[in-house]
Amino acid sequence: MAGWRVFLAARLHPAAADLLASAPDVAQVTAEPDLSPDALAARLAQGYHALIVRSKPRVTADLLAAASDLRVVGRAGVGVDNIDLDAARARRVTVVNAPAATTDAVAEHTLALLFAVARGIAAADASLKAGRWDKKRFLGFELAGRTLGLVGVGRIGAAVAHRAAALGMTVLGYDPYLPPETLRARGVEPVADLDALLARADVVSVHVPLTPETRGLLGPAAFAQMKDGAVVLSTARGGVVDEDALLAALESGKVRGAGLDVFAHEPPGATPLVTHPRVVATPHIAAQTEEAQERVARDIAQEVLAALRGEPLRWRVV
Ligand code: MLT
Repeated sequence: MAGWRVFLAARLHPAAADLLASAPDVAQVTAEPDLSPDALAARLAQGYHALIVRSKPRVTADLLAAASDLRVVGRAGVGVDNIDLDAARARRVTVVNAPAATTDAVAEHTLALLFAVARGIAAADASLKAGRWDKKRFLGFELAGRTLGLVGVGRIGAAVAHRAAALGMTVLGYDPYLPPETLRARGVEPVADLDALLARADVVSVHVPLTPETRGLLGPAAFAQMKDGAVVLSTARGGVVDEDALLAALESGKVRGAGLDVFAHEPPGATPLVTHPRVVATPHIAAQTEEAQERVARDIAQEVLAALRGEPLRWRVV
């Protein structure tokens, strides 16, 4: 069938709309980011076959019910926690994502946060800009010789491992979905369980999706298992790290510093965690590079087209 109608409900690199609009079987590409849930439902009810989102908007059961012609939802990025996958499955709506495009960007940002925490970069910059010369205040620590513990050793975890090894770090990993030989092939020493990782890691970095299983994975019990003075990094999804538990661990000194790009509620506002002097926080920008955003736009446009055409899919979620 020709005449596909595709709705872009998020701001994407123009490569997505260009690629879709040049497809001979696509009749219409509509880009309207930032609609309210009701307005989006009303638009999708006008006969759209494909919807492309980022981490917003939420694709709820109600939205899918309103969009009766919808055949595919494309997530321009990795995390699909904003999409009701059960409702999509029940309605036979295919869900695809673009998980490979942002790997390098997120891995680099993870390291950027780690360097920033280790050397107090944000605070030192703010101090100098305020006219001070606080040289003695900023005593950092080196990464070489330290142990990094990766919670999740998928694409991004593996890319972080590769970079951390080049810095002279020992890299441990815990991933119950991968066999130990896969971790070893990714340059990561496998550990038996999360506690074993937390007991040895100087830096704990989270690279898992948000699921019922991972929500609160780093909670009070996990912080209690960590080494004194550990550093915590999260560029995965808000909610995996229990923010109250992290704040308590920062205040007690159990955790020396944290680098956070994702939050349970986004935007989080100037919370005690975000404004904590030993936290470096960024507004969910790990995947926000020119290169990654162009790749992700192309990847999701191609994948959505393949789904509409009934072709084999590279990244089918549902
Ligand atoms: C992702 O899941 O791809 C990243 O968190 C980036 C994003 O959602 O913008």
